[in-house]
Amino acid sequence: MKSKVQHQSQAQASTRNLSAQAVTAAVIDRMKSSRSDRFKQVMASLIEHLHAFARDVQLSEQEWAFAIDFLTKTGQSCTSSRQEFILLSDTLGLSTLVTQMNHPSQGKETEQTVLGPFHRESTPQFPLGADIAAGIEGKPLFISGTVSDSHGQPIADARVDIWHADPRGEYDVQKPALDGAMRLRGVFHTDEAGRFHCWSIKPTCYPVPTDGPVGLLLKASKRHPMRPAHVHFMIDAKGFDRLITHVFEEGDRYIDSDAVFGVRDALIIPFKLKRSKTGPDGSVLNRSYYHIHYDFHMRIPRSKPKRQNKASR
Ligand code: BEZ
Ligand code: FE
Repeated sequence: MKSKVQHQSQAQASTRNLSAQAVTAAVIDRMKSSRSDRFKQVMASLIEHLHAFARDVQLSEQEWAFAIDFLTKTGQSCTSSRQEFILLSDTLGLSTLVTQMNHPSQGKETEQTVLGPFHRESTPQFPLGADIAAGIEGKPLFISGTVSDSHGQPIADARVDIWHADPRGEYDVQKPALDGAMRLRGVFHTDEAGRFHCWSIKPTCYPVPTDGPVGLLLKASKRHPMRPAHVHFMIDAKGFDRLITHVFEEGDRYIDSDAVFGVRDALIIPFKLKRSKTGPDGSVLNRSYYHIHYDFHMRIPRSKPKRQNKASR
């Protein structure tokens, strides 16, 4: 008995004797029975653009094999603590493109930027005021902020997930000596006035990982791998869209050449040096410290504009 798939294939155009031009339509035709219109739309566009790219650059067989080897190595570099594909997307500007299409700048709402590969799902929760450096050496940094809606109404109990690099430019996952232990990251909940604060240490600018295929790509393109100093935030509050963003250090030498194209004017803030020996929360330090503060404004989910099929455009 013939399978359903065999019956379907009989209704489609033959895949025999296809020219370099005709193969594109033939591949798209083979997908016309898929159930999801969106899947069909995305795949048809992908095939069209991929084939057009190969024709445009007259891709040689050696180049094609090299590209496949590059993508294979990119996949092989991924581990539970390293995501080379996110890094590839980030350094090619694709992450920023997708972020900006889905979260265009809007009034007072805080701008989104790339997630990056160093967020960890199981980050521990801390009480307000905790020190997330927990023994990692560096200049003290007081991190404070508020979470409110776009009219400035404070949001209590928002979940604020914070993570950043150390003064050597390393995340905890890049420190084998920590053996998986988490540092320089923590989850906090805002108080009734929408406020949060914690202690950490001041991060610095750092290179994205360059010891894998993406590093080779940057080198071949004569691009530096540096990101300006920043602190990441992921904020969740009931009734609002998730906010994924960072704040960047004003004056950082890489602010205009971020390797992953993530900097936005509204996210650049001063990392203020405070010579007082008492912190804003009353804690006594016997040295100066830095202070950053940011008022985050959450966005209410909007109904997404209806996607148009190519045929109706
Ligand atoms: C980061 O900021 O953690 C990051 C973002 C994109 C690529 C590499 C690192
Ligand atoms: Fe980062």
